[in-house]
Amino acid sequence: MLRGRATQEGARKPVIPRALTIAGSDSGGGAGIQIDLKVFTLLGVWGMSAVTAITAQNTLGVFGIHNLPASAIAEQIDAVVTDIGVDAVKTGMLSIPEHVRVVVRKVTEYRLGNLVVDPVMVAKGGARLIGDDARAVLRDELLPLATVVTPNIPEAEVLTGMRIAGLDDMREAARKIVALGAHAVLVKGGHMVVPAASGDGEQVVDIFYDGHECIEFSGPKFYTKNTHGTGCSLSAAIAAELAKGRALLDAVRTGRKYIEAAIAGSLSLGGGHGPTNPWSGAREAGSRGRCWA
Ligand SMILES: Nc1ncnc2c1ncn2[C@@H]1O[C@H](COP(=O)(O)OP(=O)(O)OP(=O)(O)O)[C@@H](O)[C@H]1O
Ligand SMILES: [Mg+2]
Repeated sequence: MLRGRATQEGARKPVIPRALTIAGSDSGGGAGIQIDLKVFTLLGVWGMSAVTAITAQNTLGVFGIHNLPASAIAEQIDAVVTDIGVDAVKTGMLSIPEHVRVVVRKVTEYRLGNLVVDPVMVAKGGARLIGDDARAVLRDELLPLATVVTPNIPEAEVLTGMRIAGLDDMREAARKIVALGAHAVLVKGGHMVVPAASGDGEQVVDIFYDGHECIEFSGPKFYTKNTHGTGCSLSAAIAAELAKGRALLDAVRTGRKYIEAAIAGSLSLGGGHGPTNPWSGAREAGSRGRCWA
């Protein structure tokens, strides 16, 4: 029996948190909508999708990108928002200006809150996933709607036009991205090598800034090639927590716990960059694997 409150019709309305991913399909299942839906499910959230592009992809690389018409993205968003409802949204691959604009239009039309914008620009293997014109629309039109934007270092460089070579640069980039209009930013440090505070090995540092607080999340750097989809997974986990009504900083904290464990337990699938482990991530993030049956 679903937990819920009675509606006027006497039916019982479920109170399952609902999250929508607007992103590309990764045929290999480690990134894009496939991993987003896995993360949502394992964190106890009902996942829905609006596919923006179909990629032919595996752990070795991206072999084809087929963008859908913007109208198809609009139809998918309309379908889920007008019937099922959406508590949080995550955006991923939006390759062309029309794709970014349709998302801006729908987010505005339906006043969708809890918007996590992962400004996906380059795949792990180096394939460019977005054109220059779409980058500008993303920065100028989508970013100001974001509850939080989650660039990696190369993406933060593109958004700010500055070179990022160390933690001070990351802090400065975070300030600049909030100045562009985003409510908050998490500059991800997976691409930066930072010596561990203990002097032994290296750490990763992600920097969160919301215009008031600057919070740095550091963790051990794992020496694994299985990091396909780390960014997608982290932003999906943050969106899942926001869908549950968590405060932004709590959602980011849980997202960080999720991704650290998912990378630590990463899966050696395929011959290239294998995926992270969503089960390890969800367990560490405190998901009790809630069953809605
Ligand atoms: N080798 C690693 N060890 C530990 N944490 C990592 C490692 N690589 C990435 N992370 C963490 O994973 C998250 C994603 O960061 P990253 O910079 O890899 O994003 P991304 O480049 O957008 O990923 P993707 O290529 O999957 O889109 C961050 O929280 C980062 O700190
Ligand atoms: Mg990324």
